[in-house]
Amino acid sequence: MEKEQPGGLHFVGKKDELIEAKRSFRTLEGRDILIIYHQTVFYAIDSYCYHAGGALENGDIEEIADKLCIICPKHKYKISLADGEGIYKGTDPREKPPVPRWYSKGVKQRIHMVTETNGDVYVKLSEDTCWIESDFYQGEKGKVERAKA
Ligand code: FES
Repeated sequence: MEKEQPGGLHFVGKKDELIEAKRSFRTLEGRDILIIYHQTVFYAIDSYCYHAGGALENGDIEEIADKLCIICPKHKYKISLADGEGIYKGTDPREKPPVPRWYSKGVKQRIHMVTETNGDVYVKLSEDTCWIESDFYQGEKGKVERAKA
């Protein structure tokens, strides 16, 4: 199904089909991507959780600290859909009494760009050259780890 367009855009399907499916799995340039349609917005995210390769396609979506997050079904890590941040609840021991709050671990999951033109949806893979933890589960070593889990 993959058709690469100029500018690195990959055709991933018709808008109506992707909306109906809500979650669609695609392999683009050897990378496994999850396309999510949620509350009128498309997201594209590396398909395997940065923590231990869990299948995000089976994760629930919840709003946490004003961010829409997918919750990995494996160990319940929370990942923001818009930017791939790992979100966790913690306390500051200097606070008396400590109050649990949501914190960010920074970007852990690679996010890709989704665009739509005349009912056709395209994904452009992230060109961010720095290492993002979810990259591990897209590589050969990570695939072996995923298979063992
Ligand atoms: Fe996703 Fe552990 S693999 S939370």
